[in-house]
Amino acid sequence: LQVRVRAPTKVTLFGEHSVVYGYPAIVFSLPIYIDVSATEHDDILIVTGPANVSSVDLVIKEDRIDVGPKTKKYLMRYISYILKAIERFSVPGIMIEIKSPLPVGAGLGTSAAVAVGTVAAISILKGLNVDKMEIAKLAWEVEKLVQGRASPMDTAASALGGVLWIEKKEEWNIEPLSVDEINLVIGVFEKQKTTASLVAEVAEKLKRNRLYSEVIKLMGEIAREARRALEDRDWKRLGELMKLNHAMLEALGVVTEETSRAVHYAIEAGALGAKVSGAGGGGAVVALAEDPIPVASAMKVSGAKKVFTVSEPSNGVEIL
Ligand code: MEV
Repeated sequence: LQVRVRAPTKVTLFGEHSVVYGYPAIVFSLPIYIDVSATEHDDILIVTGPANVSSVDLVIKEDRIDVGPKTKKYLMRYISYILKAIERFSVPGIMIEIKSPLPVGAGLGTSAAVAVGTVAAISILKGLNVDKMEIAKLAWEVEKLVQGRASPMDTAASALGGVLWIEKKEEWNIEPLSVDEINLVIGVFEKQKTTASLVAEVAEKLKRNRLYSEVIKLMGEIAREARRALEDRDWKRLGELMKLNHAMLEALGVVTEETSRAVHYAIEAGALGAKVSGAGGGGAVVALAEDPIPVASAMKVSGAKKVFTVSEPSNGVEIL
């Protein structure tokens, strides 16, 4: 028996980092998918394609070829999302195959998509009747186990799809926003740090100086205003708020020189707004553009490894 699913990646339009502290965020589920298949098997076997690893270091000694420390570290981190999901269901043996158009850790919620896809595929294979909301919750548990601190944003975007408003009141409130079409250009850049380490760095800064807490709070207010701009389809205002959100990420110190340059180039090329998306340390840049072509070129010129143009969100995790 085999089950195949596809889980979408995401781009954060507003509120990364501040969402970890319960402030609101707006996330757009991307129609760029990670395919996950689960097959009954005696042992635990994980199969991944070459696109999942951006580069491989090999150590060659006489007739032996070993995976080098960089690749080993990367694979271990990425595989841990799969292993924790398998553990969560207490399955003694299973084969999980992952196909991804992006390296995991690209800054577009790829690890959350791996967790969502694995949780969905295993639960269907086991005949459990789980809905998308339960898949989101289980995958969030997996993400927290691997990452330490994590908001439910990325796993909710991958499981549920659409454009979501995420905010912590007494409980986490996850609300779909109706957005019919929005022109986004997304560039993927070298990611130099993990999400876990960036979230920990921000936590450290918040402890050290209360001004950082003001930055986080302001990000929440920007997200609130962005929701109104989105509902009014006021793209100019939305773009301006993206620039403000980016300035806050710069203030938190999570923006690299390359992605900072990409934001400036995108705006020079006519984008209404642009910002780093996700935890930072490189990763993804998202721009709002009436004419995506010159903005996509600007991303390439600034060093993007991949550039996507999207206008409609995905529908969340799906059985294939
Ligand atoms: C990562 O995609 C977004 C962060 O806000 C972390 C999280 O929400 O768990 C930085």
